[in-house]
Amino acid sequence: MTKSPSGQIDHVLTEDRLFPPPAEFTQKAVFSTTDQYQEMYKRAAENTDDFWREEALEHLHWFEPFSEVCKWNPPHAEWFVGGKTNASYNCLDRHIDAGRGDRAAIIWEGEPGDTRTLSYSELRREVCKCAEGLKQLGVGVGDVVSIYMPMTPELAIAMLACARIGAVHSVIFAGFSAESIVDRNNDAGAKLMITADGLYRRGKILPLKKTVDEALVKSPTVQHCLVLKRTGQDDVAMTEGRDVWWHDVVDTQAGEIAAEPMGSEASLFILYTSGSTGKPKGIRHTTAGYNLWAKRTFQWVFDHREDDVYWCTADCGWITGHTYIVYGPLSAGATCLMYEGAPNFPAEDRFWDLVEKYKVTILYTAPTAIRAFIKWGDEHVDKHDLSSLRLLGSVGEGINPEAWMWYHKKIGGERCPIVDTWWQTETGGIMMSPLPGITATKPGSCTTPLPGVVPAIVDETGNEVDDHHGGMLCIAKPWPGMLRGIWGDEDRYADQYWSMVPGKYLTGDNARRDKDGYYWIMGRIDDVINVSGHRLSTIEVESALVSHPAVCEAAVVGRPDEIKGQAIAAFVSIRDREPDEALRTELKMHVRKQIGALAQPDDLRFTASLPKTRSGKIMRRLLRDIASGNEIGGDTSTLEDYSVLAKIRDED
Ligand code: WTA
Repeated sequence: MTKSPSGQIDHVLTEDRLFPPPAEFTQKAVFSTTDQYQEMYKRAAENTDDFWREEALEHLHWFEPFSEVCKWNPPHAEWFVGGKTNASYNCLDRHIDAGRGDRAAIIWEGEPGDTRTLSYSELRREVCKCAEGLKQLGVGVGDVVSIYMPMTPELAIAMLACARIGAVHSVIFAGFSAESIVDRNNDAGAKLMITADGLYRRGKILPLKKTVDEALVKSPTVQHCLVLKRTGQDDVAMTEGRDVWWHDVVDTQAGEIAAEPMGSEASLFILYTSGSTGKPKGIRHTTAGYNLWAKRTFQWVFDHREDDVYWCTADCGWITGHTYIVYGPLSAGATCLMYEGAPNFPAEDRFWDLVEKYKVTILYTAPTAIRAFIKWGDEHVDKHDLSSLRLLGSVGEGINPEAWMWYHKKIGGERCPIVDTWWQTETGGIMMSPLPGITATKPGSCTTPLPGVVPAIVDETGNEVDDHHGGMLCIAKPWPGMLRGIWGDEDRYADQYWSMVPGKYLTGDNARRDKDGYYWIMGRIDDVINVSGHRLSTIEVESALVSHPAVCEAAVVGRPDEIKGQAIAAFVSIRDREPDEALRTELKMHVRKQIGALAQPDDLRFTASLPKTRSGKIMRRLLRDIASGNEIGGDTSTLEDYSVLAKIRDED
């Protein structure tokens, strides 16, 4: 093997399995022929303005028409310039106006087992009441509202209420610390904070309001705090003049407020994502383009039909919850299941219990959850009837082919297509994914770009790489759902996403395209391992490890090596076997057999768990520090469980 040119990644693991969509699925699908997709793709690429004009006119409500489809002044895009719409109107009023107000919008189940169903009409009433309450608290167009809430319907209601009056929401995942809330409140200049007394997690109550109280002492811009009573514990301190109860301020309103016509480019929300170091970035999305992208990608990828019960297991604290619990499915008039709690409470079969109980037809979850289910054992799945499912989705990380196979067989009963959706907080919605009625899937590949998405894979000089290698994944044209900036930091926006490859959006991921034009995400650019001049992708080595029956989860990183430049260190969590020297050798040899000597891990450590972000992504950067014997550097505020790091060190 020759050394890879700079910026290119060696592709070492092959995957030949192919799963065509079941004929029965294709018959009724939104996309039922490849020609249909190709025509649409071509039109979006070549007649971009006409394509998106028609899409926007048909799929959004316009209070005032737009005069220009896309104004592209790199790196700044404006979409549907001059138009006025409202995301809450598109999610609610449109369906009610069309006589579909009685349809269930949200079916919710709390962790303790309490349930609630809200029709579109009921949801609008609640959203309006909340919007009226917000106005009473002095919130208006352009004001930022921080939301730190449990996964109750009120979280979606609060988001939509902000949208209704033109306020900008900034949802902060309810597992973040007071310090993280302070950073976000101050960066955004939040005027109001919405929270709850507490939330249920694995049977315990987490006192959210206490954390918020700590944060508000250092959040000078926040004038009021609106508090939902969720758990009803009685030691909730309310600060006179600042804190008010939801039941006093929201429930008492009439619930009739009209949606505010908002400019297409008015900010809809900010969502903070952590860079690997440095302070979190407030990714800014705007109204019309984002809303359209959320709706159309939902309809295309999830093949939505009238009778579906759709369940996205993400939290609204992440972009997946924003786009595929709230704005996408509700704009499309879908019925969404929303669940408050942990997947293993009261037992490891909670998800399957929910699927059976609510006859879920579409399930959208993350590889980290799938790997946990595999680890917990098939018996939890076997207890339940999952025959209502017709489509499965995955998002958040690459899915190792063996985890894909388990999902396909065990959850999908070999009849449900899997949509492995690649996208980012910044992209607003799904960018690459199979279309379930027409795309033959390959385990581990997010397959092909959606209409409007023009990917380019480049090396460090910005030239496109050939199909045998991987390189940096960029997007060559603006699309309606793209981020419009980083809140309060224009320079960082241009620098981070647009400076390395001029004129193209830099995703920060590596990818390769195979001979069939399918894309394979190869992990973050920063995570590439350079062994003797060969640049290896983390996911390929990890997937080779996970293909061994004893391995549940694996993370590989590079550590400095005098001879090779970098050596490969693997961290592996196993099931059904004792960790011993024999298994260590067996796993190293397994990788050697699957990929080759080059990729054989030099170090292999067994560990009970891997360090992950709060949204479930493996944090390789921290493992890199451990493997290299360095102090752990950078920002660790997004780490889910700090004790995992200490344990990995002890296990050493
Ligand atoms: C990774 C989540 C491989 C990727 C929607 C991306 C994936 C980052 C996939 C964005 C996938 C997400 N296959 N990798 N299907 N989906 N990623 O902002 O590295 O939380 O850049 O958005 O997750 O994460 P974010």
